[in-house]
Amino acid sequence: MTQRLVIAIDGPSGSGKSSTSRGVAQRLGLGYLDTGAMYRAVTCAFLDSGVDPSDTAGVIAATLGAEVEISTDPADQWVRVNGVDVTERIRGQEISTKVSAVSTVPECRAELVARQRAIIDATPGGIVAEGRDITTVVAPDADLRVLLTADPEVRMARRNLDLGGEVDAAALADQVLRRDRDDSTLVNFTTAADGVVHLDGTYLTLEETIDQVVELAGRR
Ligand code: DC
Repeated sequence: MTQRLVIAIDGPSGSGKSSTSRGVAQRLGLGYLDTGAMYRAVTCAFLDSGVDPSDTAGVIAATLGAEVEISTDPADQWVRVNGVDVTERIRGQEISTKVSAVSTVPECRAELVARQRAIIDATPGGIVAEGRDITTVVAPDADLRVLLTADPEVRMARRNLDLGGEVDAAALADQVLRRDRDDSTLVNFTTAADGVVHLDGTYLTLEETIDQVVELAGRR
């Protein structure tokens, strides 16, 4: 019987963790969980129920009541909330600027962490899960835990590419630097916890980064 393999990858915005995690999952035949997509999907849910981002009780209620379905197939990513496909919508600027209303609330985090653990446990063969708190909170007992970082200029340039190069400098700084600052009030994803491998991808291509994670997984 082959052993289940769970790989946890954390890192700041634009570090390349989503592309890397998807690539590693495809190479190793594992599932893939984008936990950030769950925070984003729940953001759609609270906005759609007319809740203001500053109404923390409303955001918590919308999070607890949101039915989130998410693909764990690295080759076919989609996410639905309350029955509606939000795969495209969660990448838009409205969601990117409001998602911290969910990710900075401990009650929302606890709910999503529990759901993420259930998805990880239910994926046969194993999974690559990525986010901000996977190595420390969601799956601290993963077989391999990696903190993927990159210098801020490189992260902003990568996020700019992701967004089609159409976002102005202030919006980019908001999406990368301000969001990471807000998110890091509850979760530490800038230094590697004990037992977590720190991989600096500043000077690595995507393929090189995937190679390194696959190699690390092979050594476990
Ligand atoms: O990785 P991303 O940009 O899609 O994440 C969306 C937001 O959710 C971002 O503000 C960070 C937050 N997040 C988090 O706090 N914990 C996670 N495990 C994943 C994402």
